[in-house]
Amino acid sequence: MAEVRASLVCGVIAAFLSSAVLAFVEDLDDTFKETRVNDIWLVDFYAPWCGYCKKLEPVWHDVGMELKSSGSPVRVGKMDATAYSGMASEFGVRGYPTIKLLKGDLAYNYKGPRTKDDIVEFTNRVSGPAVRALPSKQMFEHMMKRHDVLFVYVGADSPLKEKYHDVASELIIYTYFFSASEEVLPESLALPELPAVVVFKDGGHFAYDEYEDGSLSSWVNKERFQGYLQIDGFTLYELGETGKLVAIAIIDEKDPTEESSRLKSLIQRVAKEYREHFNRDFQFGHMDGNDYINSLIMGEVTVPSVIILNTSNEQYFLPSEPTESMEQLVQFINSVLNGSAQAHGGDGFIQRIKRVVFDGKSTIMSVFRSSPLLGCFLFGLPLGVISLMCYGICTAESDDGSEDIKREGLTDEEEEEEEEEEEERRRTAELEGREEGENEEEEEEDDEEEEEEEDDLGEKDPGEKKTD
Ligand SMILES: *[C@@H]1O[C@H](CO)[C@@H](O)[C@H](O)[C@H]1NC(C)=O
Ligand SMILES: *[C@@H]1O[C@H](CO)[C@@H](O)[C@H](O)[C@H]1NC(C)=O
Repeated sequence: MAEVRASLVCGVIAAFLSSAVLAFVEDLDDTFKETRVNDIWLVDFYAPWCGYCKKLEPVWHDVGMELKSSGSPVRVGKMDATAYSGMASEFGVRGYPTIKLLKGDLAYNYKGPRTKDDIVEFTNRVSGPAVRALPSKQMFEHMMKRHDVLFVYVGADSPLKEKYHDVASELIIYTYFFSASEEVLPESLALPELPAVVVFKDGGHFAYDEYEDGSLSSWVNKERFQGYLQIDGFTLYELGETGKLVAIAIIDEKDPTEESSRLKSLIQRVAKEYREHFNRDFQFGHMDGNDYINSLIMGEVTVPSVIILNTSNEQYFLPSEPTESMEQLVQFINSVLNGSAQAHGGDGFIQRIKRVVFDGKSTIMSVFRSSPLLGCFLFGLPLGVISLMCYGICTAESDDGSEDIKREGLTDEEEEEEEEEEEERRRTAELEGREEGENEEEEEEDDEEEEEEEDDLGEKDPGEKKTD
């Protein structure tokens, strides 16, 4: 009897919970325009047919649940952007899914990885005050431990503080902004003048200088990363948005000869010791393995080696000889800086053709990979026919089509290589800010793709704010 009652209670609780779960994410319709104004909203604009949107759905539920249980004032919703297309386009939705945080008359785009933790972190950061006060020494130290890069305004009210606030309310999508009085900072920290905007990072601190650094927002944008980073495709894309060139040591983390770790520490030292010289123009880091870069430059870089990328025009620079010493590395970076280094690649006409061919090849390979039979049929049959025709025409000598078909079939080893290439190519597409159309086509095909893949959708500036 007690059991029956217990299970009944459980059932009721479960029913209650499941209805509560539904309430974590509100389904929005065209009344949203009126209802949104008094609240902060986190909205997923989705399309029913889009694969990425389906993948986001459970994550979105978790986000709603976590925000509600943590007492966040942010309401979480989702809107079928195809059903309410007028409203979606008013919000500047140009691809699916689009995640936006709507706060007052501002809309912030979320562009990061689509995981619960990342989205919740973003939401808490952006929904809170643009500038957060650090009232005590303990608080300052606590934040120093938590953040690798920490922006702090130091001083009393001033025009600089107003400017700082404006910059913060725009760039809060990237990082936190704090303010503090001088007493809160360590005594050892002697700032030449107040008020000041200071960034704490890389084991030191650097103050903003209006004359040297230009506008506060461009300085923040350039300083918001640590001076040296481990770089992957997504980081590279983010780094590119700072407008800096990216100097990368391509290494093999498992290299037993230690060549790789030598080069890594070399570039690490340059990043630190030559900060004064290079920080304005370069971001430094290392990447494990050369696959990503290979597909980016449609070539082959040796491991270990150094490459400098200009992500804004897709050009890259390679040292003329292997980098053995610090001097060599510094000289190489200098030569890129003064324009005497030979640039490769780029986004010119020939490079675009090359990219099309490269992508075409990768696409063919991916067809073979997912379905060799279909691949043989699609590409092998015409090839065979053409070969036979050739055979017929020039009966003299011909290795005939069957050979070609076999080669197209690929050995296992090659296949693996191609698979990686294909992966990388897709990330590259992201990097290059490809148009949305392409990405959407790929959606159905490839489920294991990177989350951030079709993030961009033509909105080049993630700092972009839309005012209604
Ligand atoms: C990088 O590309 C941008 C955009 O084309 C260009 O203005 C800049 O001069 C390039 N930098 C170098 C070092 O080539
Ligand atoms: C550019 O820098 C390189 C390396 O430091 C140096 O050898 C070269 O003379 C410089 N060229 C110009 C035109 O300044």
